[in-house]
Amino acid sequence: MTVPPAILEAYDPERFRADGHRLIDAMADQLARWHAREGAVLPWRPPAEARDEWPVDPTPHRPSAVLRGQAAPDLAARSPHRPSAAGGDAVDDLVRIAAASTALAHPRCMAHQVPPPLPSAVLAEMVSALLNNGMAVFEMGPAAVPIELTVIDWMCGKLGLAAGAGGVLTSGGSLGNLTALLAMRQAHAGFDVWKDGAHAGPPLAVIVSSEAHYSVARTLRVVGWGDGGAIAAPVDAHHRLTAAAVEAALARARGDDRRVIGIIAAAGSTATGAFDPLDELADVAEAQGLWLHVDAAHGGGLAMSARHRDKLRGIARADSIVWDAHKLLMMPALVTAVLFKRESHAYEAFAQQASYLFAEAQPAATWWDLGTRTLECTKRMMAIELWVAIRAHGDAWFGEVIDRQCELAAQLAARVTAASDFELALAPEANTVCYRHVDPAITNAHDRAAALDAHNRALRQRVVEDGRFYIVGTQLPSGYHLRSTLMNPLAEPADLDDLLDHLRALCRA
Ligand SMILES: Cc1ncc(COP(=O)(O)O)c(C=O)c1O
Repeated sequence: MTVPPAILEAYDPERFRADGHRLIDAMADQLARWHAREGAVLPWRPPAEARDEWPVDPTPHRPSAVLRGQAAPDLAARSPHRPSAAGGDAVDDLVRIAAASTALAHPRCMAHQVPPPLPSAVLAEMVSALLNNGMAVFEMGPAAVPIELTVIDWMCGKLGLAAGAGGVLTSGGSLGNLTALLAMRQAHAGFDVWKDGAHAGPPLAVIVSSEAHYSVARTLRVVGWGDGGAIAAPVDAHHRLTAAAVEAALARARGDDRRVIGIIAAAGSTATGAFDPLDELADVAEAQGLWLHVDAAHGGGLAMSARHRDKLRGIARADSIVWDAHKLLMMPALVTAVLFKRESHAYEAFAQQASYLFAEAQPAATWWDLGTRTLECTKRMMAIELWVAIRAHGDAWFGEVIDRQCELAAQLAARVTAASDFELALAPEANTVCYRHVDPAITNAHDRAAALDAHNRALRQRVVEDGRFYIVGTQLPSGYHLRSTLMNPLAEPADLDDLLDHLRALCRA
């Protein structure tokens, strides 16, 4: 039985080489255009129109309307190889996708907490896809598994966790928060939830900040605790969850039939980038026998900066921590570490055994089988991205990036404060800035707060549809604010001036 030509052609290493060279050339050209601030950050299309532009059937070829309105990207020469039987060209298609996507590498992208990924890590990601080692068991990741454990040790070390700490990488902070909460529940519920079910004991709850990321609220519903599973404690004027607020929430919960088993703190909250006082919260957790989980999905990266790591003081006392490398560590999504003060807790989230996979007969061997610690069975070789990047650039490089992001945020905040037509919501602690435009015409409006909210919502929508900058928005207790997380270390202070001028121009238009 011979291999059919179409199969041989698709797997031909020479075709891969030729297409790969064309693709890298085209992507490098695209990166250079973005870095030069050419083209849109957000090539906005009304969603219904955008949907019609990407037919799976490549014939007849319909150029994207997004590209029709812009300078055409330098499409590399077509494949020297025979076109695929279906008629599409993967490289051309990928180039078109890049041109129609939100350009995180563009220095005027100042929106979500998602970085322009480090190119060396992007190459590692490609190799991860090519090797496709699933990693649930050591034999499906003989390089990737020890590299992941090395990277986990490195991350534990950066946060100052004591010997005996450990963890696992998983796909995203949301899944990371779920994993940590499952471990917390198994360790502190007082009954065997895994074996006997969630209702074999009293209902459970955790104390959470009123500004916790929505994945925390979701996790509590996923585990079946319902609305009562989250006891929300209000934040202070700096948007931080204080020990006093936790103690008050605990006192309120005392009369309930719920058993409170933990506190969920944030090191870098999503809305404002506020850092909870972790040392104080660890004191309360210790005194009350509670598990302390720190959602450091965003702020964990501050550990790399001598200037900013103090904001994480106390994090080493947490029982579990989530840290997204695809935020401040500049990795492509998704690379999330779930770290435990006691590595044994890493096995409690998923206490189940799958005998066909894991080496039950030799428990020591399962230590290498990472599938025992994650919801995922097959997962990407995500550790190799970070490992390659650390080795290529060195630890200090990450500190430099983070210092620059925080400095850009401080400079944006300073410009907002100095401007009479903008208002700063709060001083940024790291690289997230919340601000709003104050239209002088609104000052005397009957309901100023509602009018300001509507004005800034409409302004943000205009920014999105214009596409030359990208910012997001957030609802704070003081009103709706524009929000910029300065993730791109290639941004310059002049881009910040241009952003404010751009907003003013959109208001005038
Ligand atoms: C504090 C915090 N926790 C969790 C998450 C969720 O992380 P992911 O998007 O990786 O699922 C985010 C995302 O922005 C976040 O800011």
